[in-house]
Amino acid sequence: MGIKKTVSVLGLGRMGTALATALAGDGYDVTVWNRTPKTVPGTKTVTTPEEAFESDVVVTCLPTYEVQQPLLSKTIKTLVNLTSGTPEQARATAEWAKTNGVEYVDGVIMAVPQQIGTKQARILFSGNENHHVLQAFGEPVHLGEDAGLAALYDLALLGIMWSTFGGFLQAQALIQTAGIMPDQFTPLATDWLATVGTFLPEMGEQTHSKQYETDVSALDINVEGLRLLTEANEEQGLDTAVPRALHDLFQRAQRNGHGAHSIASVIEEIRK
Ligand SMILES: NC(=O)c1ccc[n+]([C@@H]2O[C@H](COP(=O)([O-])OP(=O)(O)OC[C@H]3O[C@@H](n4cnc5c(N)ncnc54)[C@H](OP(=O)(O)O)[C@@H]3O)[C@@H](O)[C@H]2O)c1
Repeated sequence: MGIKKTVSVLGLGRMGTALATALAGDGYDVTVWNRTPKTVPGTKTVTTPEEAFESDVVVTCLPTYEVQQPLLSKTIKTLVNLTSGTPEQARATAEWAKTNGVEYVDGVIMAVPQQIGTKQARILFSGNENHHVLQAFGEPVHLGEDAGLAALYDLALLGIMWSTFGGFLQAQALIQTAGIMPDQFTPLATDWLATVGTFLPEMGEQTHSKQYETDVSALDINVEGLRLLTEANEEQGLDTAVPRALHDLFQRAQRNGHGAHSIASVIEEIRK
């Protein structure tokens, strides 16, 4: 076996600490840098980013690109960027890396810190196909040559998660107005999510084919349902921002002639 590369981790928040720990556990020679100096067992702490850039590979895990960008330097040999951002930010950083002779990998972590180093941690990456150290963190999945793809998938998947969480919290608030305990309701909610998931393949296909005929459920009936959901929340004195936003969006699609179509037709409003 060859000698493992030296790796630095910039940013020792919840996720960066888990990444540095996983690298050390995987036998890498790890250097860490954090704004507020911090130690991670099995790694060497440095007090300036420049010292961290001496490693073969630099992994960044900072809150935003705005924080990360001023720290980057063309003395970095290989940059594995795991800081969350938009696809355009990732593409701009790939361009910066190319101009400055820095090898660049753009990745996103579809996991929580506690899952790092296990197969449950899926690391989506794009651009450069060489995944370098990503295997130490979980299961690397290459998405394509465009460096922006990892960020695109990340935000698309997180968008599903946040919408689901928003709907779940609204549901909990509504259910609890009748004194129902979370453990009475949550099992029904998780079963329901599994059922809802079975509709996604056909819905996804319709968003592409634009064939919105349905014998399942027309948009008209769903607009009516969202009106009822908004009213029910209002009756209980709850915030209605989430159901109202969906009602407005679905209603616009209905007004634009999609009432008899499937819910997938709402994408026509979103694409505008
Ligand atoms: N946590 C997760 O479950 C998770 C999952 C997937 C992806 N991510 C991504 O991982 C990245 C880090 O998230 P996290 O959860 O580790 O965040 P976190 O726990 O809030 O840690 C933030 C880190 O950024 C540093 N930092 C903040 N402002 C800074 C500045 N102006 N200059 C230099 N360093 C600064 C902090 O340093 P100090 O210690 O000095 O404050 C700390 O090390 C984000 O892009 C996030 O989207 C996180």
